Amino acid sequence: MVGGHRERAARIRADIERGRHDPASFRAALLSVPPGERDDWVDRVLGLGELPDDDPELPAGCVPYLPCSVDALLRVIEQARVRASDVFVDVGSGLGRAAALVHLLTGASVIGLEIQPRLVLAARDLAARLLLSRASYVEGDAAKLAGFITIGSIFFLYCPFSGDRLAKVVADLESIARTRTIRVCCVDLPMPACPWLVPEPPIAPDLAVYRSTLCEEPFRREGTVSRVVRS
Ligand SMILES: C[S@@+](CC[C@H](N)C(=O)[O-])C[C@H]1O[C@@H](n2cnc3c(N)ncnc32)[C@H](O)[C@@H]1O
Repeated sequence: MVGGHRERAARIRADIERGRHDPASFRAALLSVPPGERDDWVDRVLGLGELPDDDPELPAGCVPYLPCSVDALLRVIEQARVRASDVFVDVGSGLGRAAALVHLLTGASVIGLEIQPRLVLAARDLAARLLLSRASYVEGDAAKLAGFITIGSIFFLYCPFSGDRLAKVVADLESIARTRTIRVCCVDLPMPACPWLVPEPPIAPDLAVYRSTLCEEPFRREGTVSRVVRS
């Protein structure tokens, strides 16, 4: 990474730690970094080092921690149209990196659900260091917790698990989707067939964004208002 980007990352980190942050200028700074260097740049801004070891007691079927790439997260933000008014839920949030980045880029509130206690502590430490008052991290099995996060508007899954746990999360999200339209974003994760989740036109092979169709609230799309019809 060239010195200029490294220095800018250090300056931005210092600003964030002093409570001086603006999503638009943060996004412009990130986009000025070449794509191949963005993950390293974000780790510098967030003050993250080596990947942590996973808990040996991680239950079978639960995928170990691996951070989602910055470019995949930029695509999630674009395709799911994440806004400051959203509540973005990271299902399997690891060190809190993805949720923190989405918050810094969009101003959205973020909630992470994570089964590994040490990662939850590290994520809370990250949020405290960067004064991210609208980021919170909950410890537990996301398959049991996700349905209780009724304030969530966007649920993000970077391959935390599949099979029965994924089916349970999808079933539990249905009751939230009956109250208002939600979006479900999956990176590298095939979704089970679900009649109330409609895929958005794909923009990348690793990303699928779905919109729920159970609620009749108006849904704003790029300046127009269209009505989502109950199926
Ligand atoms: C592939 S990593 C994704 C991390 C993060 N979402 C990101 O994009 O950077 C999957 C994460 O899900 C967590 N996980 C796996 N099974 C889980 C479960 N049942 N409940 C909550 N978290 C789980 C793992 O501990 C790991 O941190």
